[in-house]
Amino acid sequence: MNNTNHIDECLQKLKEVQIALKNLGSSLEAANKEKTAAVATGRKPATKKKKPAKKQATKVELESLLSSSDWPLAIPEQMICDVASEEDKLERAEGILELIIGTNLTDRRFLDFGCGEGHCVIKADKMGAKTSVGYDISITSKKKRGVTITENWDDVKKNGPYDTIMAYDVLDHIEKETPVEALKKIREVLADNGKAYLRMHPWCSRHGGHLYQKLNKAFAHLIITEEELATMGHKLMPNQKVMLPLYTYRNWIVNAGLKKIEENISETQPEAFFSQEKAVLDRLLSLNNTKEIMTFQMKMNFVDYVVIKNG
Ligand SMILES: C[S@@+](CC[C@H](N)C(=O)[O-])C[C@H]1O[C@@H](n2cnc3c(N)ncnc32)[C@H](O)[C@@H]1O
Repeated sequence: MNNTNHIDECLQKLKEVQIALKNLGSSLEAANKEKTAAVATGRKPATKKKKPAKKQATKVELESLLSSSDWPLAIPEQMICDVASEEDKLERAEGILELIIGTNLTDRRFLDFGCGEGHCVIKADKMGAKTSVGYDISITSKKKRGVTITENWDDVKKNGPYDTIMAYDVLDHIEKETPVEALKKIREVLADNGKAYLRMHPWCSRHGGHLYQKLNKAFAHLIITEEELATMGHKLMPNQKVMLPLYTYRNWIVNAGLKKIEENISETQPEAFFSQEKAVLDRLLSLNNTKEIMTFQMKMNFVDYVVIKNG
């Protein structure tokens, strides 16, 4: 099923490129004809009249729509973690480990790549992991709490190799290196019979902008520009801006010398609001440089992979 979707996705892109090339060809041909005729007759080539720009919804109009209950939520309110509550964060960590890894961590050597504050590392330790290490380029909480949470890759290597590696919502937000370089690092410390669990969170998903703590509105990051969001007080985190999830992620995995053994897509169909509310649809199409609403990509909330070393 996934292969079929992938082929559909590629065919759709190919079609768009073909149309664009055809249009470009026709415009060039017309321009050349005009130029040749102008040279022959000695007259000035006609300058093309600019089409009046399509009127886009203003920031004020969008803000008013955003504050209405018509604009669907990105995430059900009850699912938003209270960032001020340590208890909530530990509960979320437990949920993540159960959902993504699901297996018993007893006696496993566990690495959380891009661990953030390290709550999953603490939980994995409590669940009986033999080694539980967290690595991140920016550790916001320096409390070690009996586990190794480090910004130093050499420390990670020293404690490895690892049977179980998790990168939860990291590769779409990777900084200072490419996603493939980060995956190569994961491969470097993965035990020969180990598995890495990757949760991908594409930009094209309904909450791909990570704005839900302050602006819990689906696809707002695809409809409102980064500058406009900034003037509304919303800051986007670094993002690889993946718009073709399956194609992109599969390439990252293969190029890092890894092999996918599982690929699971979690989906929600975008609400009719996004295709029926003209101001929103116009923005969606123009900001994302497409002629049609990208339903196939927009319905992907997350893509989860289990990968192993490829040879
Ligand atoms: C969206 S957060 C997710 C954090 C954590 N996994 C969680 O779910 O709470 C992305 C994390 O990736 C980290 N990160 C970004 N680039 C990284 C890199 N090159 N190597 C390791 N971690 C990185 C960030 O510092 C950030 O903590």
